[in-house]
Amino acid sequence: MKILITGVAGFIGFHLSQYLLKKNFDIVGVDNVNDYYDLNLKTDRLKILKNNNLNFKKINIADKTKVDEIFNSERPSVVIHLAAQAGVRYSIKNPYQYIASNIVGFQNIIENCRKFNVNHLMYASSSSVYGLNKKTPFAENHITDNPANLYGASKKSNELVAFSYSNLYSLPTTGLRFFTVYGPWGRPDMAYFKFTKNIIEGKPINVYGNGEMYRDFTYIDDVINAISKLIDIIPKKNNNQKIEHVPAEVYNIGNSNTVLLKDFIEIIEDITGIKAIKNYLPMQMGDIYKTYASINKLYNQTGIKPTTNINEGLRLFINWYRSFYK
Ligand SMILES: NC(=O)c1ccc[n+]([C@@H]2O[C@H](COP(=O)([O-])OP(=O)(O)OC[C@H]3O[C@@H](n4cnc5c(N)ncnc54)[C@H](O)[C@@H]3O)[C@@H](O)[C@H]2O)c1
Repeated sequence: MKILITGVAGFIGFHLSQYLLKKNFDIVGVDNVNDYYDLNLKTDRLKILKNNNLNFKKINIADKTKVDEIFNSERPSVVIHLAAQAGVRYSIKNPYQYIASNIVGFQNIIENCRKFNVNHLMYASSSSVYGLNKKTPFAENHITDNPANLYGASKKSNELVAFSYSNLYSLPTTGLRFFTVYGPWGRPDMAYFKFTKNIIEGKPINVYGNGEMYRDFTYIDDVINAISKLIDIIPKKNNNQKIEHVPAEVYNIGNSNTVLLKDFIEIIEDITGIKAIKNYLPMQMGDIYKTYASINKLYNQTGIKPTTNINEGLRLFINWYRSFYK
């Protein structure tokens, strides 16, 4: 089975590719290796993947001709689309980046999935689609019509486009609503990474929402386990029901355990043995007060639940951080 993975130089794409390459899957990896964050991290991830025989193509998914060429030459049977402009705060200052990568890029990928009869398109969505929804834990059947920022809106748009392609062309699609994924080789733009860096370097940390915000932190190995299980759970079209069932699903990929930001900082302080210098600030524009995933659907379909708690996961991350930046 040939799998095309986009965003392979990224945090989740790197771990997923490494996991599947070790299981001897034939992987084609795509990324434009942009400089949104520390390029060394992306090039080091790619080095490891190339040593594991990754067939890597450096392209921008917003470039239709390049995406068409890859599908035409590689003919993957499964596509796991993770490339996107991530980050909530960056979307306030750089809106067009999100339209190019997350909207146009997504269209180029899904249109080729249709054209080349891909068996299963899986794509990264986000807990951000829950936006201003206050009802927790967030469940897949909750209304997601109130995105709090453009990043959330771009991911919600992907879910809608995917649904329409599943409906029109019976293309099986699975949206993965990730909840704050963290771990070794993680993203320097995310709070857990910045906190660790600044605490270790004795610099102050900016604590938004006065530390009274909650996040459902999901350890990377649990995320990879969930994605790999879902590859073979292909949404099916079912015409026997009264309402025609469209082969489009979305899943929360979360830990289902929400952590108060203040407590989270204390865990980093305990692990590093260093007290944080805290700079308390109000909530930032576009931020969400609380994320909390219901993972009943994931468990019912795959029989798996995340197993890594926040103490254990942060210890693993900080061990990696200290060895990478020594
Ligand atoms: N990490 C999280 O907590 C989290 C949470 C929710 C959703 N997600 C989503 O999961 C996916 C992977 O996230 P990640 O944390 O690995 O992010 P990441 O930024 O580390 O990885 C994304 C990769 O995509 C590449 N990319 C971006 N735009 C591109 C383009 N136009 N053409 C080709 N490549 C491009 C980047 O260079 C990067 O290597 C993204 O779609 C993200 O929105 C992540």
